[in-house]
Amino acid sequence: MNITSVVGGQWGDEGKGKIVDVLSEHANVVARYQGGANAGHTVYLGKDKIVLHQIPSGILRPGCICILGNGMVVDPQGLTEEIDCVEEHGIQIGNRLILAENAHIVTPIHKAIDRYREGSLENPIGTTCKGIGPAYVDKYNRIGLRGHDLKDRSHFQKKLFDRLDLAIHHREIPESAKNDLMKEITQYLEIAEIVSVYVGDAYGVIQENLDNRRNMLIEGAQGTLLDVDHGTYPYVTSSNPSTAGISQGLGLPMHKIERHIGIFKAYCTRVGEGPFPTELEDETGEKLREIGGEFGATTGRPRRCGWFDVPAAKFSAQINGLTEIALTKLDVLDTFSKIPVCTGYKLNGKIYSEYSSVMHNLDDVEPVFTIMDGWDCSTDSCSEFSNLPEVAKKYIKFLSQQ
Ligand code: IMO
Ligand code: MG
Repeated sequence: MNITSVVGGQWGDEGKGKIVDVLSEHANVVARYQGGANAGHTVYLGKDKIVLHQIPSGILRPGCICILGNGMVVDPQGLTEEIDCVEEHGIQIGNRLILAENAHIVTPIHKAIDRYREGSLENPIGTTCKGIGPAYVDKYNRIGLRGHDLKDRSHFQKKLFDRLDLAIHHREIPESAKNDLMKEITQYLEIAEIVSVYVGDAYGVIQENLDNRRNMLIEGAQGTLLDVDHGTYPYVTSSNPSTAGISQGLGLPMHKIERHIGIFKAYCTRVGEGPFPTELEDETGEKLREIGGEFGATTGRPRRCGWFDVPAAKFSAQINGLTEIALTKLDVLDTFSKIPVCTGYKLNGKIYSEYSSVMHNLDDVEPVFTIMDGWDCSTDSCSEFSNLPEVAKKYIKFLSQQ
C-alpha cells in the first residue's frame, strides 16, 4: 500500500493536476481534502484539454474512485458542469465519485456574498468569487449546509431560504439582489438534487482502502503560501492547502501517509492580490507569462510572474514535511540566458535567508538573487533527467540543494 499526497508548494497553479494525473495510474482512490471550485487543474486526455475544478483528475482513469472530502466546500453548479464535461469525453463516472456527507456546500448566496464583498473592499483579496470564503465562514459559524443536507430537498430548501434572509438582514448582500437570487436558487435546487446521488460515506471508503492496503493519492488544491494559517494572510484562501489540512479534511490519520510530494514551478506565479517579492513587473515578467501560458484556468486572469523564491520554497518544504519535490514547467525557461533565483531577502540593510523571519514584511523586502546560467536550448523532448543540458541539471540541483 502506498499513500501519497500531492500539494502545491507556492501560490497555486504549480501543475498539481498534471502530477496527480501521472501518479493516479496506480491509485485506487484519489481524494481532495480542501478548497472547492477555486481550483483549476488542467489535464489532457489524448489531445483534449480538460480543466477540472473540483473532481480529482483521477476520474480520467477507469476504476479510480474519486472523493470530495469533508474539508471541501463543494459547488453543485460547477460540479454538474464538470460531470457533464467528463462524460462528454466518453468517461463513465457512475459510482466512482463520492461527495462526503460532511463536506460543506456552496450556494448562490455564498457566491453573491463573495462578489459583493470583493466589490466593496478598499483592498480586495482578488478572490475567484466562487463563494469559498463565505462557505467556510458558515462552516465555522455552524450554519453551513452539508452534503448530508442535500438528501432531503425540503429541508435543504428551507435552510437555503433562511440563509438568504440572514444574508440580507446582516447586509452581506444588498436587498436589491434578492429577486435574482430567488430565481437562481430555484434552478439551483434542481442541480442540488442531481448532485445528491453522489453523496456517500467517504470515511467508509477511506477506511476500507486502508484495511485492504490499497494505494491512495491525495490531491491538494491552491498552494502553501495561500494557506489561511501559514500563507500571506489576509491574501490567502480560506482553507489549509498545506499537508496539515489532509487529516482534518479527510479523516485520514497523518501517519498513514508515506510520501508528501510538493509541486513547484521552476519560477513563481501568483493570481490575485498580495505580496510577491520576486515579481517581475516588466517585459521579462511578460515573457514568462507568454511562454508559460500563465493565465488563470478558473478566472482567465493573467498570472503575475517572477523568479523562483528559495526561502519561501524552503519554508513550504519544512511545514509540509515534503519527502520529494516535483519541479514543473522548466522548459518555460529555455530561452532565458540568465536565470535569477532569490536566495534571501534584504530588509532595512540586513539580509535574511529564512522566510519566517520576514513573512510579515514581504511588501518591503528586496530579493537577493543568485544569478544562474540559462541553457539556451529546447528541453521539449527531454523525458529523463539524464537527457537535460548540463546547465539545466545544474539549475535543478541548485534548487534541490537549497
Ligand atoms: P489551484 O488549485 C492559484 C487565489 C485567488 C485569491 C486567493 C483567494 O489551481 O492551484 P479564493 O477564491 O480562494 O477565496 O481566493 O486565492 N486562488 C488561487 N490561486 N491557484 C488556485 O488554485 C487558487 N485558488 C484560489 O486568486 O488570490
Ligand atoms: Mg490552477
